[in-house]
Amino acid sequence: MRTRFGVGISIVAVTLAATFFAVQLRTSLAQDAAAPAHATTLSESATRGKAVFQEKCALCHNAETADKKIGPGLKGFYERGTFTGDGSKVTDESVKKFIEAGKGMMPPFKDTLEPAKVDDVVAYVKTL
Ligand code: HEC
Repeated sequence: MRTRFGVGISIVAVTLAATFFAVQLRTSLAQDAAAPAHATTLSESATRGKAVFQEKCALCHNAETADKKIGPGLKGFYERGTFTGDGSKVTDESVKKFIEAGKGMMPPFKDTLEPAKVDDVVAYVKTL
């Protein structure tokens, strides 16, 4: 009797655990589906750029919001289409030049980032 009762409890426990994990899995799949496409499909260049960003840029720039840190938050920067400072147009070329030259509180990266890394970080900023 004791053993059967024990087995019964285990079956209930396993069923509960299985249900719990099934719900968790469905929730996480649903979250993936709801996430913006770029979150899961960063190009190789943008993936490398993200690492550069975290190392060199994140101390001054938010990637997740447009809120100012030291510099402007870069979420939606390309969608906005213009630089905060002078309203000039956002293009891969103008962003690259800006990063290389720096401005005000933003240091120039011309001598500390290879051109290919600047391209990578631009590719990443474009996805924000
Ligand atoms: C020490 C802080 C600092 C670091 C580090 C820094 N930035 Fe900046 N960044 C700024 C500031 C301040 C501005 C605003 C400059 C201005 O317009 O006067 C800015 C502006 C920008 C802009 C233009 C945003 C806009 O809305 O006009 C971009 C793009 C940008 N930074 C990208 C980067 C990238 C990419 C890196 C890393 C390679 C980086 N920044 C590193 C401080 C920083």
